[in-house]
Amino acid sequence: MPQRPLVVVTRKLPEPVEARMRKLFDARLNEKDVPLTRQKLVAAVGMADVLVPTVTDRIDASLLAAAGPRLKLIANFGVGIDHIDLAAAETRGIVVTNTPGVLTEDTADMTMALILAAARRLAEGERLVRGGKWKTWAPTFMLGARLGGKRLGIIGMGRIGQAVAQRARGFGMEIHYHNRRRIAAGLERTLEATYWRSLDRMLPRIDILSVNCPYTPDTHHLLSARRLKLLPAHAIVVNTARGGIIDEAALAQMLAKGEVAAAGLDVFEREPAVDQRLKRLDNVVLTPHMGSGTREGRIDMGEKVIANIKSFTDGRRPPDRVAGT
Ligand code: 8YV
Repeated sequence: MPQRPLVVVTRKLPEPVEARMRKLFDARLNEKDVPLTRQKLVAAVGMADVLVPTVTDRIDASLLAAAGPRLKLIANFGVGIDHIDLAAAETRGIVVTNTPGVLTEDTADMTMALILAAARRLAEGERLVRGGKWKTWAPTFMLGARLGGKRLGIIGMGRIGQAVAQRARGFGMEIHYHNRRRIAAGLERTLEATYWRSLDRMLPRIDILSVNCPYTPDTHHLLSARRLKLLPAHAIVVNTARGGIIDEAALAQMLAKGEVAAAGLDVFEREPAVDQRLKRLDNVVLTPHMGSGTREGRIDMGEKVIANIKSFTDGRRPPDRVAGT
């Protein structure tokens, strides 16, 4: 790998990150921020030493089959790597890195924002005011659900799940979680968290559900129609992870029928498309995949990408390697 590698960045990144990249690398940036077509992606992997993709790029086996001999590193801008075929990268000897840690707090903040918005009907109230439909105050008007004393069920107790738990404790919520592995006893004690090995057994016992696990073949439709039916009818579902973890059509149908009380969704199965039924419902808060979208976080993510590329070109092991040797 040359000391000044050819780095193709697929989307526009914050100015300070792009400035550093220009200085350090032979950086090909996307000034206009138009997502790359398949053809352009093929051209990119054909010529680059390093590709910096985002969640909007599909880096599958057929794309990687078009990779040129120079492509040695895919330094993803983002923590989720479900859009990259890691096995295909591995087979071709391409190292893949991501950006963990730096978006934990922002994504947890967004999760709490959606929990609050869904429980307290924030978006609905806002629409009402803007639409000139607010006529008078009344004791029984726009009632929501109190967070204090409610049971929060977290699916995926990694960095983000734990950060959500910490915040939710501050709101007086009781923490329950389902994870492949139980977290350390000390941490469980600090969070006063209850572990549920069986998701099916946890779901009927919680009031609010937060999805914070990675999207993998194992978690595709983890919240299937059958599992969603295990939730109590007053439950609120919040997803800041990946849309495909929930059967979106089933959730939309249950929200419409009042079988699930409300939802806060930042991610969708076919982004940027959103199920029309969800858009028509008042008990759903919809945001456009902006969980980690803070100015500070985006710069930190860019710095992580640069650190991964730098250590790779310096012949060291990149700190955030998820595939390849
Ligand atoms: C990012 C995300 O904005 O990091 C992730 O996995 O889902 C988002 O927070 C996006 O992935 C950037 O590529």
